[in-house]
Amino acid sequence: MAEYDYDVLVIGAGPGGYVAAIRAAQLGLKTACAEARETLGGTCLNVGCIPSKALLHGSEKFDEAVNGTFDTYGIKTGKVELDLTAMQAQKLDSVKQLTGGIEFLFKKNKVTWLKGYAQFEDAHSVTVAGQKVTAKNIVIATGSNVTPLPGVTVDNDAGVIVDSTGALALDRVPNHMVVIGGGVIGLELGSVWRRLGAKVTVVEFLDQLLPGMDGDVRKEAAKIFKKQGMDLKLGTKVTGVAVNGKTATLTVEPSKGGEASTIEADCVLVAIGRRPNVDGLGLDKIGLELNARGQIETDHDFATKIDGVWAIGDVIPGPMLAHKAEDEGIAVAENIAGLTGIVNHDLIPGVVYTMPEFAGVGLTEEAAKENGEIKVGKFPMLANSRAKTNHEPDGFVKVISDAKTDRVLGVWCIASVAGTMIAQATQAMEFGATSEDIAYTCHAHPTHSEALKEAAMAVTGKPIHM
Ligand code: FAD
Ligand code: NAI
Repeated sequence: MAEYDYDVLVIGAGPGGYVAAIRAAQLGLKTACAEARETLGGTCLNVGCIPSKALLHGSEKFDEAVNGTFDTYGIKTGKVELDLTAMQAQKLDSVKQLTGGIEFLFKKNKVTWLKGYAQFEDAHSVTVAGQKVTAKNIVIATGSNVTPLPGVTVDNDAGVIVDSTGALALDRVPNHMVVIGGGVIGLELGSVWRRLGAKVTVVEFLDQLLPGMDGDVRKEAAKIFKKQGMDLKLGTKVTGVAVNGKTATLTVEPSKGGEASTIEADCVLVAIGRRPNVDGLGLDKIGLELNARGQIETDHDFATKIDGVWAIGDVIPGPMLAHKAEDEGIAVAENIAGLTGIVNHDLIPGVVYTMPEFAGVGLTEEAAKENGEIKVGKFPMLANSRAKTNHEPDGFVKVISDAKTDRVLGVWCIASVAGTMIAQATQAMEFGATSEDIAYTCHAHPTHSEALKEAAMAVTGKPIHM
């Protein structure tokens, strides 16, 4: 009889966990995956990446029809109306198809889905739905949840103070939505509801939006979102929110201190970050300690300090992104199988899926300067023939390279398809490209990607179309 029930037991079926489970099974390991939710796919497929992109896409189409973009192309529309129930239904349909797809892949790859919340008993066993299950290797892929704002109680059912999950499921367009936090969630979901007709105010503690992104990108983001009609209150903190029936009164004041004022809203979205899911896992039973940020630390192989226990995704340090979790899922399975699974954490692209999209990979200009001398090339989307033809004037591409070696250190894009463009930059950087390598690579015309080539040419001062 085998010593353990499974070779690998993954806790959590988000992009980290489900990918790890499938890869482990593909490598011939007997694998199970415990998931507490009723559907597979984790935050990303159920209440994150997928539903937010479904609403971003739908609301973008609505905005185009209502706000005159169609008119630019000579398309005359009649009265345009929003059927929010139908828009929400198409979102749920995408979610259902994709979560069902993971269930299919589990069956196909013979991954056992253990339905229920898993709690450690010891380093090689957990209890799921009252049953003890043992495994030689246990991968913690429990993801993250919303960081609460002290003194502010989220009630997604009431729909007045909501988190991202509530903001994805509203059954009405708010009159005035106040978003607390000008990060990725605030700007994506704020954009959705602004496009659908809400007045949107973003209250951000810092002096700029989108912390972690390049300084030029952050400045440009503020200009673009203001131009789109968002009210931005930068350098401002919320000190209290009082709910009175269907409305809320927020008290705000300058982050550095100063006079307080109030804002009335019928919907408040709290989007000030996310924190790892570790409560109730029973980590104390296996002696696994958390770092100061409540995360599980691992080595480069994603092994924790406890023999046979591994961790990946949002629950460990690094950007909380689905593709980072997925790559770690593949790597951890390969490491468990005795292969060499590696993730290059220096090159995890980040994308904000608004219109235009904001994307970046590698170092910001500020961080690159701290490390040594650099060269910077920039090219505006206004001078890119495809963006111009598509009436998409906003944005630029910026390439940052090492002054001595010309090796590309960072690429930042603001463009309608920046999320797609950044893949090319990431790949070039993985291969150790110089700006000259990108500049002398043939790019199809007319494409937005030519702006990356021209920005790379601009590093040495010779773009053609500027
Ligand atoms: P999760 O996806 O959080 O999955 C963890 C799973 O573990 C959950 O299903 C949970 O139920 C389960 N679980 C937890 N504890 C237990 C337990 N003890 N037993 C059993 N099951 C357990 N990232 C992007 O890259 N692109 C995007 O466009 C994007 N959009 C987002 C939009 C929103 C609104 C949000 C909230 C997030 C978004 N993200 C996006 C982030 C992305 O969703 C996460 O980075 C990603 O889901 C992390 O994957 P994970 O596998 O680590 O964890
Ligand atoms: P975030 O970290 O991106 O942004 C939070 C913002 O809130 C920051 O700008 C911060 O300065 C601000 N803030 C913090 N406390 C505040 C306060 N008291 N008052 C006002 N502002 C305050 O976090 P967000 O937007 O909640 O997203 C969580 C995670 O989900 C991110 O780490 C992101 O990686 C992931 N995500 C990724 C997406 C994508 O890849 N497109 C989309 C949505 C989420």
